[in-house]
Amino acid sequence: MSYAGKKRKLDKTRQDTLYFDSYSDVTIHEEMIADNVRTNTYRTAIFRNSESIRGKVVLDVGAGTGVLSIFCAQAGAKKVYAVEACSIAEQAMEIVKQNNVEDRVEVIRGTVETVELPEKVEVIVSEWMGYALLHESMLNSVLYARDRWLKAGGLILPSRAELYITPISDPVVEDRLYFWYTVKDQYGVDMSCMSDFARRCIKNSDITVSTVAVEDVLSHPARFAELDLHSVTAEELRTVKGRFRCESFGSAAVNAFCVYFTVTFPCSDKPQSLVLSTSPFKPETHWKQAVLYLDFPVEVVQDTLGTPNQERDIEHPHSVSHAHSLQGRPAAYHPPPQSAPNTNAMARGAANRRAHPTWDLG
Ligand SMILES: C[S@@+](CC[C@H](N)C(=O)[O-])C[C@H]1O[C@@H](n2cnc3c(N)ncnc32)[C@H](O)[C@@H]1O
Repeated sequence: MSYAGKKRKLDKTRQDTLYFDSYSDVTIHEEMIADNVRTNTYRTAIFRNSESIRGKVVLDVGAGTGVLSIFCAQAGAKKVYAVEACSIAEQAMEIVKQNNVEDRVEVIRGTVETVELPEKVEVIVSEWMGYALLHESMLNSVLYARDRWLKAGGLILPSRAELYITPISDPVVEDRLYFWYTVKDQYGVDMSCMSDFARRCIKNSDITVSTVAVEDVLSHPARFAELDLHSVTAEELRTVKGRFRCESFGSAAVNAFCVYFTVTFPCSDKPQSLVLSTSPFKPETHWKQAVLYLDFPVEVVQDTLGTPNQERDIEHPHSVSHAHSLQGRPAAYHPPPQSAPNTNAMARGAANRRAHPTWDLG
């Protein structure tokens, strides 16, 4: 193997070690189990699919503390293989015993890419979603498990994922930039030149995970990508992107985009499927929302095109880089029917939601 090839392999091993170490600590599991939107939606989805789970063999990809495996056993699974790569598997074994399901739940320590199961499975369950959906790249492991271990026609929980985007006017970032203009008044030292540097730092910081307030959202969200877990391939995950169009609620300065996701569980006992949503309009989850900052604020205008683009860095499979652009200038601006003052504060207010200038990003 070439030097570059060996280095890539070493880097990947180090990345995997760091990644799995982060799941060996209690904090992350505490956060996930305490997220009752997340955990209850999985629990409900598993119980609503008990017809398809009862008497069946299940694979839990990345079992962590084993919580989903135990839900599956409680829903009547004949056998659950709880595959977990990191040392939290030892706690999972204890939890399985404490819940008297060790006859049906077998915790296997190892990566799903390397473990050997004695049989194929009828159901795969996994909680693989990272920030902005793909940040952890764990979905690749689920796809590997699907192709290697799922019987034809098997069930995947969840079975679909969707990505949404909406422009926002984030007041926090503008306050942070303005802060450098206030230093002179406080200390007699002019630091206003720091504002540009601060903007570059914030802009360069990949995604920011934070709770987006609904009053900062400037349009109805647009869905820009959808993944069908039965058919999507690892190759297709290398670039997930799509076009979108948003109609602003009112005049505003757009300084960022909010990206969030939903995952959908089919329900064998109900006509409607079950959706786990990380929308700013839904109860908060530990994923919060992902914020992508623009270089500069853009006044709400018509016919401005942009494309959100989530590209996975193949050398760093547990990270994701985002590229997004806002190109073009306002070709035309049509004031809304009830024209409102063009200020951020007004744009965020409910009163301005009656006004609807339109704009495009591409
Ligand atoms: C987001 S946590 C979910 C844990 C648990 N299923 C739950 O819902 O609380 C993902 C878990 O998957 C494990 N994991 C990630 N990739 C894996 C792989 N390729 N093979 C086995 N385990 C993996 C991580 O160590 C982590 O414990």
